[in-house]
Amino acid sequence: MPKDSPMDDLRREHQLVLADMAEAQAAVQELKPGPGASGRGPGQLLRSRLGQFQEGMLLHFQREEQFVYPEARRAGLLGEFLNSEAEEDMRAHQVISTRTEELISAAEEIERTGDIDAQTLSRLRTIVGLTRTLLERHAAKEDTLIFPMIERGLSAEQLVAMRDHLRDSRAVGDLSGPGDPKSGPGLTRLGGQD
Ligand SMILES: [Fe+2]
Ligand SMILES: [Fe+2]
Repeated sequence: MPKDSPMDDLRREHQLVLADMAEAQAAVQELKPGPGASGRGPGQLLRSRLGQFQEGMLLHFQREEQFVYPEARRAGLLGEFLNSEAEEDMRAHQVISTRTEELISAAEEIERTGDIDAQTLSRLRTIVGLTRTLLERHAAKEDTLIFPMIERGLSAEQLVAMRDHLRDSRAVGDLSGPGDPKSGPGLTRLGGQD
């Protein structure tokens, strides 16, 4: 295995994305129910933290879906059991992305009106908690099960090629700037970390 495995880059990204999610959850905890109780500031803060989380999360998922899972499948590493695990992982990507969209819409509404009722707030807290738990489990499963399997199963040359593809995808992304919400995320933070 090469000294710096491509999986190490992805493990580091998990830490960044999880830290962004923790910040977003903290912003939800700050919200207070009632007309005008929160004002616009907390909604704005929540939207901005969710936006930062979404940017890194989507980029990370795209890299895995483009360069990691297909390669593991091509190399026949997954077998029947892990194939279904990998499918579950792709579903988790989808669920986390969809819930994040929902949270961002709610944050935009709070930012616009400065209001949030107790029921909506409780729903937001539930969704953000569930999303964080799903993300933590998903990242832990990749770190402990899927990535080690790939590290053991691919040759050193294949791992180096995967690492280069992952790093090239960042370098290209760096040029795209902060990203356009319609065309997808840019690579401002994950792409620029080294
Ligand atoms: Fe993943
Ligand atoms: Fe991941």
